[in-house]
Amino acid sequence: MANDSDTIKTGNSEPQSGRRQFIRNMAIAGTGIAASLAGTSAVAASDSAQGCSTAVVGNNTRKLGALTVSPIGLGCMSMSSGSYNPPRSAKDMVPVIRGAVERGVTFFDTAEVYGPFTNEAIVGEALQPVRNDVVLASKFGFKFENGQRAGRDSRPEAIRTAVEGMLKRLRTDRIDLLYLHRVDPNVPVEEVAGAVGELIKEGKARYFGLSEVSPTTLRKAHAEYPVTAVQSEYSIMERSVENQVLATCEELGVGFVPWGSVCRGFLADKFNEYSRFSEPSRFASVPYFTPEAIENNMAILNLVREWGAERGMSPAQFAIAWLLSVKPFIVPIPGTTKLHHLEEDIGAIHTRFSDSEMAMFRKQFEQLDLVGFRAKDAALTDK
Ligand SMILES: NC(=O)c1ccc[n+]([C@@H]2O[C@H](COP(=O)([O-])OP(=O)(O)OC[C@H]3O[C@@H](n4cnc5c(N)ncnc54)[C@H](OP(=O)(O)O)[C@@H]3O)[C@@H](O)[C@H]2O)c1
Repeated sequence: MANDSDTIKTGNSEPQSGRRQFIRNMAIAGTGIAASLAGTSAVAASDSAQGCSTAVVGNNTRKLGALTVSPIGLGCMSMSSGSYNPPRSAKDMVPVIRGAVERGVTFFDTAEVYGPFTNEAIVGEALQPVRNDVVLASKFGFKFENGQRAGRDSRPEAIRTAVEGMLKRLRTDRIDLLYLHRVDPNVPVEEVAGAVGELIKEGKARYFGLSEVSPTTLRKAHAEYPVTAVQSEYSIMERSVENQVLATCEELGVGFVPWGSVCRGFLADKFNEYSRFSEPSRFASVPYFTPEAIENNMAILNLVREWGAERGMSPAQFAIAWLLSVKPFIVPIPGTTKLHHLEEDIGAIHTRFSDSEMAMFRKQFEQLDLVGFRAKDAALTDK
């Protein structure tokens, strides 16, 4: 089983033999441009294979508890969940995931429920050739009937069954970061922590994570088995985790992985005040995508556009760099189905805003009323 010391990093300390093996693996995978990882810390390196400028992660890493990852990960959900776009094929998505690896991304996020199941299969196929060089995160916690999600289930025996399926689909013998996706009201979180601890002892998982939990649940779970990361929605627009969740993570030495870092595309300038959504689009049921919310919330997008433009950054880059500047233990996982969007998002990682810039920006955005986001106290209960 791999541990952190034998996971290849993109930093200077990367073992050369590991690097050679990585490049060999990628060449075997038929992608051939792993050379973009070769120790550069520049934002852009020449991608001779495609004749265009290619963003790379360079020598950066971040820590989620004891786990070392690239400073941003890749959220794979929308590749096949049908959430934000029709499910894409493995043929189209495997190159996006491998393209992320080539650019130095080492952290990949999926879940049993995305698809369901198909997302893990795509991620597993894409990462099989470089399995020992990447950190694979997946999530359990739902029940399925006739291939469809049917409530929550975190009984220890259900977790064990879920993990066996995950390992097969992900084509691996261990899940690096195994999250509880949503708290099951019928199973105490201590029991879940104990069950995951057993799987870790057996080598089927390496680290334990929680998603969308309150500070109280985090403390209870952490007391039973150490939690490595909490994953919850967090962006310039959705800031409820600033109410005690981030502080609890900091106190306990737990990493934080924000999903929705570009607010499901809104902060990436994907929509405008005329955008409208109707069923079956997932966006139709998102409170911040109602016509009133979109029109109201354009003010914050305009602020992000202005701040980004002054710094030569796109709105998506500004939004991701803002999260990276909030705390060093934060690792955003922007989701995308497009390599050029991934490259744009990676471009955020070399910028850190100063404390005074952060304070000035916060003063400006806190004056804007937002519509459709969680109340501050929502962070104090499990989602
Ligand atoms: N724990 C949880 O409960 C939970 C919930 C939701 C998601 N997640 C995880 O978190 C990941 C990220 O969250 P998310 O996907 O919901 O939200 P997100 O990352 O804020 O937004 C993803 C959307 O933004 C678009 N986008 C990203 N970069 C862009 C760019 N540079 N320019 C234009 N559009 C861009 C993508 O469209 P394109 O495909 O067109 O690029 C995609 O539709 C997911 O993939 C999933 O792994 C976890």
